[in-house]
Amino acid sequence: MHHFAYRNGSLHCEQIDLQEVAAAYGTPTFVYSKNTILSDLEELQLAFAPIDAHIAFAVKACSNGAILKLLAQRGVGFDIVSGGELWRVIRAGGNPALCTYAGVGKSETEIRYALSCGIYCFICESEGELREIDRLAAEMGNVAPVAVRVNPNVDAHTHKYITTGTQENKFGVDASRIEALYSTVAAEMPHLKLRGVQMHIGSQITETEPFVKAVKKLAPLVQKLKAAHGIEFWSIGGGVGVVYDGCLASGSPEWWKNHPEQITLKSYAEALIPLLKPLGLRILLEPGRRLSGNAAVMLTRCLYEKKGEKKTFKIIDAGMNDIIRPALYEGYHEIWPVREHAANDSVVADVVGPICESGDFQAQNRSLPDVRPGELLAEMSAGAYGFSMSSTYNSRPLAAEVLVDGARMQLIRRRQTLEEMVEDEILPE
Ligand code: LLP
Repeated sequence: MHHFAYRNGSLHCEQIDLQEVAAAYGTPTFVYSKNTILSDLEELQLAFAPIDAHIAFAVKACSNGAILKLLAQRGVGFDIVSGGELWRVIRAGGNPALCTYAGVGKSETEIRYALSCGIYCFICESEGELREIDRLAAEMGNVAPVAVRVNPNVDAHTHKYITTGTQENKFGVDASRIEALYSTVAAEMPHLKLRGVQMHIGSQITETEPFVKAVKKLAPLVQKLKAAHGIEFWSIGGGVGVVYDGCLASGSPEWWKNHPEQITLKSYAEALIPLLKPLGLRILLEPGRRLSGNAAVMLTRCLYEKKGEKKTFKIIDAGMNDIIRPALYEGYHEIWPVREHAANDSVVADVVGPICESGDFQAQNRSLPDVRPGELLAEMSAGAYGFSMSSTYNSRPLAAEVLVDGARMQLIRRRQTLEEMVEDEILPE
């Protein structure tokens, strides 16, 4: 459930009219709903209450310190993939002892930093990486907790760029090689402690079946690892999808009744708990998109309308530098006018940004309300992989971010200034 809805003809985030946000902070601006994130977090915690489950929020989805702080205050841990993400988590008051550190290419500096912070576990992706962590831990007089990411070779039925659990992908170690690898670690790497095992099959998965398949496939292996090496946890990764097409409507319970096929946190938990409970292990969950995705919109303004021979373009003040998902993954985001339009006031148009690339679109051939230049638009479900993937391409300063809590709004990132955009550059004498 999210907290975006029309009230008195204007789109609101909780009790705040998005027109007020634009007036105060300009556009483009990412606007987050605190209570959407918190209610989804509670729903997930409740759904997994029957087992020993812990949440590690995938920081890459949304890394603003205010959001991390919100989660950290509720005892949530974090799935990090760089030294930078670990630094952000600690800055926001997160506990490193609740952090798992994944990724295929950890550098020496990052490994040393994570070891010195006392993270919960390194999620390792190759024998070379395990040997490097063992070497560095030995040098630092430390023992590094490790788990290996298992590739279950299961098709997640999602976009090819965000499928991670097949043999075509760079991630993890083939399931058939895991037992031998754990024995090698135990025998040859005295500065490593085998603490768990991990999998992650992909992202934006909208049905329970791929998760069930992967868990069923790996459960016997996980059981063997527990018996042989006394591992204490199994992280089953993230990947639960959000509603992109129908986002606004999905704010109502009615929508869910008509979409029984769409994964929910409850159906995800109910499908997996019977398979996970008998293992008697701590289960880690690494949700990113599902906790922050539907919790924000990107507020933007329509600048111009351009009618071509074949197409109508609505040109907005946000570009692929602000949200790259449509360009990179053919991602679909609903686009709603902030001022409510009559149902019959619609047009088929491309919604495009100011960037000098044909790939700079947020929607193509989309039937949407016929917004006029000057009107505000909300690009829905922009809370995951939105701001966190943004850049200053075309020398466009980074957008602002605002957090709404009931009737209160708070700036959680100032819009970048031109000076800030170039402050790391050095002009030679
Ligand atoms: N755990 C691991 C090891 C991951 O690699 C990821 C995401 C997650 C958890 C969180 O997955 P989620 O619950 O958010 O699906 N930029 C892409 C998504 C990339 C996902 C990368 N890994 C997009 O905008 O669709």
